[in-house]
Amino acid sequence: MDRSIADELLFEERVIRPLPQFVVEANLKPAQVAELREAATDDPLWYWEDAADELEWFRKWDTVLDEDNAPFYRWFAGARCNIVHNALERHTLTVNKNKLALIWEGEPGDTRKYTYFELNREVNRFANALRGLGVGKGDRVVIYMPPLPETVFAMLASAKIGAVHSMVFAGFSAKALRGRIADSDAKVVITADGFYRNGRVVRLKDTVDRALFDADSVESVVVVRRTGQEVDISSGRDFWYEELVRRERTQASTEVMDASDPLFVLYTAGTTGKPKGIVHAHGGYMVGVNRTFRDVFDIKPTDIFWCAADTGWITGHTAAIYGPLLAGTTAVLYEGHPNYPQPDRLWSIVERYGVSILYTPPTTIRMLMRHGTQYPESHNLTSLRLLGTVGETISPVTWDWFHKHVGGNACPVLDTWWQTETGMFMISPLPVAALKPGSVARPLPGVEAEVVDRQGQPVPPGKTGFLVITKPWPAMMVAIEDDPDAYRSYWDRVPGAYFAGDAARKDEDGYIWIQGRADDVLIIAGHRIGTAELEGAFVSHKAVVEVAIIGIADRIKGEAAKAFVVLGDDYDPTDELIEELKEHVRGELGPVAVVKAIEFRESLPKTSCGKLLRRVLKSEELGVAPEDDGDPDDCWSA
Ligand code: WTA
Repeated sequence: MDRSIADELLFEERVIRPLPQFVVEANLKPAQVAELREAATDDPLWYWEDAADELEWFRKWDTVLDEDNAPFYRWFAGARCNIVHNALERHTLTVNKNKLALIWEGEPGDTRKYTYFELNREVNRFANALRGLGVGKGDRVVIYMPPLPETVFAMLASAKIGAVHSMVFAGFSAKALRGRIADSDAKVVITADGFYRNGRVVRLKDTVDRALFDADSVESVVVVRRTGQEVDISSGRDFWYEELVRRERTQASTEVMDASDPLFVLYTAGTTGKPKGIVHAHGGYMVGVNRTFRDVFDIKPTDIFWCAADTGWITGHTAAIYGPLLAGTTAVLYEGHPNYPQPDRLWSIVERYGVSILYTPPTTIRMLMRHGTQYPESHNLTSLRLLGTVGETISPVTWDWFHKHVGGNACPVLDTWWQTETGMFMISPLPVAALKPGSVARPLPGVEAEVVDRQGQPVPPGKTGFLVITKPWPAMMVAIEDDPDAYRSYWDRVPGAYFAGDAARKDEDGYIWIQGRADDVLIIAGHRIGTAELEGAFVSHKAVVEVAIIGIADRIKGEAAKAFVVLGDDYDPTDELIEELKEHVRGELGPVAVVKAIEFRESLPKTSCGKLLRRVLKSEELGVAPEDDGDPDDCWSA
């Protein structure tokens, strides 16, 4: 992790109290929060059952939590539901019917808006079209799209018919897409001809064609016309979205799902070279997300909520789509780059739609900060009442800038800690809490977290340890696609607890300070990238014999990758080769895989049993002595 950020976190500790007017208006007052927290700690199952009762079910549960097959916990066992009923259909029968569900803006400036009624109609038409293509319960549907209205239709339509969506970030390469398609045996791929990003057209359909070369499971490809560019259409396999839905009915039946039936798969980096397909289920996910999203963001009927993260990541699933729709609020979705056409695009969107809650990764704030305060200052941002961040530690300097220049010193900044695996927000301040810039505050009511040592014992305040979650929570992943051992491994490290993979410390007030990953995963610009995955991309180049990747500090991206490469005998360590290797890795994994630096070495440091000692390289890089973490052969992070 970014060393300078870590140092800053260790030394700065300020408390910012909520403004009195905020407390008066908040849905949950401080006394209620305290009461809820206590009640949830005493009886978590009561707390989550109460959260489940806020939603509509086709059949209620026999048991709130079935622990018989732990750690394969089953929440709301015996219940029947469908998240789409709660995120969409039920709103069309209330005052929300004609409320805007979605405000979408394309990068060139085009906009589309949908009320709950209209969104439901679009989802139904697409659900019927998917059924027409033979897609049904349990089938995997890969969605390789940027944030477009059709991305939302596609996700909800597949969930509605009981299919399982697997979103792939549109910045991933054909190879990465291919791997994800193969791993989940997808029947259908939904994509667009292309999209706009930073003033350029990104050609998506071509990438899909390359990814599908020889892929047997895929029967159909649905193509949304976004840019209008020429694309190859393979007859019998490829269908234009518009043609497919044109004649479909605007009503569709909703598949009745078991609460633990899968809703989506989302791949994320782990410590092996292969990304893990994290599986979430209808029942628990909707309960956990609905309760935590509403509480953290203090959702009011008049809110306009904007999560500026891409729909291809968990943040986009939970905070851009399912959370806001479950809450019946209005979600803003933006296709393009925050700097296009100039670095005030975010502020311009906030001003034009009257966004009241803005949620974004710190990396975006750092990028915009660099351009100076004149950009936020040239817009009326007074509609904002809450700000949120996610995905990586926010340094106090970035926090202050966001708080002051975007929030006008009047909006709490809610730093939310959670993961693809957790599905929902886990550790975060609530709007009425005292804030400490750089800290994610305390676990949300119903969530129990601890900072422990290697033996699983809580460490004293101020000491760094490993972050664990000590009680199951409803939106937890239910499986890892085809890999029960990988799922179990989260629960093996500390008996009875979920090992998050983060280093953290707790202060005297019980506030948690995330110190970065404790395993071989990098967080580059808020995105999780496994060092093993990057190393795999390097060694697929003929010149590379061996490689080790470490994270180094980057002012904008927070963390960036540095590679130590051992070359084959026939290759010379030239600048051209450095560029070629960077390009090669980008081609293998896509633009997300940014390698900042490459250093050639004769050999790499290893333990006696041949395990790479990345931490020795890291210490050399930082110019400090290697941390003594006991037995060097211990594979804690392997
Ligand atoms: C990191 C993103 C510090 C952490 C929702 C975690 C954070 C990983 C924060 C999960 C935060 C997430 N402060 N670090 N507020 N939120 N992280 O699965 O290392 O893409 O384990 O989920 O991001 O990344 P993922």
